[in-house]
Amino acid sequence: MRAAVLHEAPGDLVVEDLAIAQPIGREVLIRTKASGLCHSDLHVIEGLLPLPALPAALGHEASGIVEAVGPEVTSVAPGDHVITCLTQFCGTCGECQAGRVYVCRNRHGLGRGPDREPTLSLDGTPVLAMAGLGAFAEQMLVHENGVVGVEPEVPFDVAALIGCAVLTGVGSAVNGARIRPGETVAVIGCGGIGLNIVQGCRLAGAGRIIAVDLNADKLEAARGFGATDVVDASQDDPVAAVQALTGGGVDAAFEAIGLTATAEQALAMVLPGRTAYLVGVPPVDSAMTISGAGVVLQAKGVRGLFMGNSHFKVDMPRLARHYLEGRLELDRLVSAHIALDEVNDGYAELKAGATLRSVIMFD
Ligand SMILES: NC(=O)c1ccc[n+]([C@@H]2O[C@H](COP(=O)([O-])OP(=O)(O)OC[C@H]3O[C@@H](n4cnc5c(N)ncnc54)[C@H](O)[C@@H]3O)[C@@H](O)[C@H]2O)c1
Ligand SMILES: [Zn+2]
Ligand SMILES: [Zn+2]
Repeated sequence: MRAAVLHEAPGDLVVEDLAIAQPIGREVLIRTKASGLCHSDLHVIEGLLPLPALPAALGHEASGIVEAVGPEVTSVAPGDHVITCLTQFCGTCGECQAGRVYVCRNRHGLGRGPDREPTLSLDGTPVLAMAGLGAFAEQMLVHENGVVGVEPEVPFDVAALIGCAVLTGVGSAVNGARIRPGETVAVIGCGGIGLNIVQGCRLAGAGRIIAVDLNADKLEAARGFGATDVVDASQDDPVAAVQALTGGGVDAAFEAIGLTATAEQALAMVLPGRTAYLVGVPPVDSAMTISGAGVVLQAKGVRGLFMGNSHFKVDMPRLARHYLEGRLELDRLVSAHIALDEVNDGYAELKAGATLRSVIMFD
């Protein structure tokens, strides 16, 4: 089966013909139907976010149809439409039992051990499946706790985006920041993740949603997803602009780019007693500067959010219902359908700011 593989970072993806194992135990074999181009893979491609091993099949935002299941699988069956998720969980560790499945202690231990036939291989050499998924591929072999069923009425491209951008964005607003009706928020970075934070805040009833980006097209898109005000950071200082718009600052600010400078802006934008939420993933060796006295004397918080701090098996079906009942706008997030062979071009366009989300379609 064909998959886009990263052999070295930084480097380009190469479409290779990989062998994929048959499901054992709690594994699910999925025929991939759609796979979105999230910026996190671009961080990996650019060498800013290292994976545990290369070569690796990238991609982590996908939907498909179950083809076969291992003998211990109970939650899905062949023919089911499914969404995959990278926050796979064991269900038994302390974090899982406390409801924080997104930080499961055994997340990386659910795959096959070294004594088993590798999940993916290229001419006999094991290939890592990124995040236990490897979604830029015609097939995926995933632990059952990384898969959830979705109603067949949800189109595959939209279902794929629920797999990361929508879960992360809406979850950051609803589960992470717990935005309350009437609150004022700022969202810095209006790509696939930021636009979903915007509409998650709208869904939660935020009174004022200020979108910040350098790209005028993204700001225009943000208005369509619920932003009440926009700040063009290529023209204005975003902190001063947000303070001027709100008469002091916001109740919550979200960083959705992955830069320490904009993380510092998010902290500066929030009012005393409030929290800045970091959603973008900065380069692993970078560090943000925080005034210790500033956060203490103003009682401010800084909090990272991972995959919207979601329980994806509960939250993804709800997000699908919000979409089907018209409360979430997901069709307009898809700016292009592309083929697997076009994945490098798709990432070049994402980097240039030309797309919201490109989605690889496998038909
Ligand atoms: N925390 C999580 O669970 C999680 C999940 C998925 C993605 N992410 C991360 O979220 C980030 C965003 O991902 P995406 O797919 O939306 O990316 P994207 O490329 O679609 O969007 C980034 C946006 O930031 C804007 N931008 C860039 N520099 C800016 C600046 N200095 N000021 C204002 N705006 C600026 C760009 O114009 C673009 O609109 C990435 O770092 C990604 O790795 C985090
Ligand atoms: Zn992602
Ligand atoms: Zn666990």
